Amino acid sequence: MTPRPEIAIIGGSGFYTFLEDPQEVDVETPFGTPSSPIAVGTVTSDEPGGTGRTVAFLPRHGRRHEFPAHRVNYRANLWALRSLGVRQVLAPCAVGGLHDGLGPGTLVVPDQLVDRTSRREQTYFDEGACHISFADPYCPRLRTALVDGLDDEESPPVDGGTMVVIDGPRFSTRAESQWYAKQGWDLVNMTGQPEATLARELELCYAATALVTDLDAGISAGHAVDQEQVFRVFAEHTAALKRRLHTVISSLSGERDCSCSAALAGMTPPLELP
Ligand code: ADE
Repeated sequence: MTPRPEIAIIGGSGFYTFLEDPQEVDVETPFGTPSSPIAVGTVTSDEPGGTGRTVAFLPRHGRRHEFPAHRVNYRANLWALRSLGVRQVLAPCAVGGLHDGLGPGTLVVPDQLVDRTSRREQTYFDEGACHISFADPYCPRLRTALVDGLDDEESPPVDGGTMVVIDGPRFSTRAESQWYAKQGWDLVNMTGQPEATLARELELCYAATALVTDLDAGISAGHAVDQEQVFRVFAEHTAALKRRLHTVISSLSGERDCSCSAALAGMTPPLELP
């Protein structure tokens, strides 16, 4: 029998080697099929005497990156994880920096997001009154664990920042990019929404871990982000990020004393959560 994972990573396919002894689980949901079967395995802390945790891994874009950001079935992905027992989700993602100070390689634990996506399924609740609070889109407890656990002294993560999420698949024009920066936003990305909203609707703890792969189009005159740079820089930093996420995972308590687990309190969702 597959052990029950309480923590999940949704990330790039470079994270497959994150788990020891992974077993693949096929999950179907009322919202369709997730991006791939879910790998469930163990993460053992690198600290002396560290204990193992059962963790799920789901490659957001599919095993062979077959789903671009605007085609990912975010509803199926989060639903499938919850149905396996997951209650805490760490979501590494590639982002463009919107300020010169946020160059490639910087890790950011955002605290806000701006949703500029459209045409994506944003909710599980198409009937009745079910309006979740989303003023603070990320779990504060997971954010603290990330800020502390990702700190390797040489390059501590940036604590906080606003991530604007665009549909893609194209990158932004220089004018769009400069406009985002002028609004005071810090990062641009294509996958952060509706993942964060759907996690909250399922009463999951969720926090993004943003790895800056580029300075976006309008930020450094003469440069414009391209796909090759995003993939290359993310791959260059994946091993270090995985190591640092091991530390974060071993520090996570199963006790959720944040408000995420009561996001639907007092509401009557039109369907039972898995
Ligand atoms: N993901 C990584 N870099 C990005 C950028 N510049 N714009 C949107 N998504 C990204």
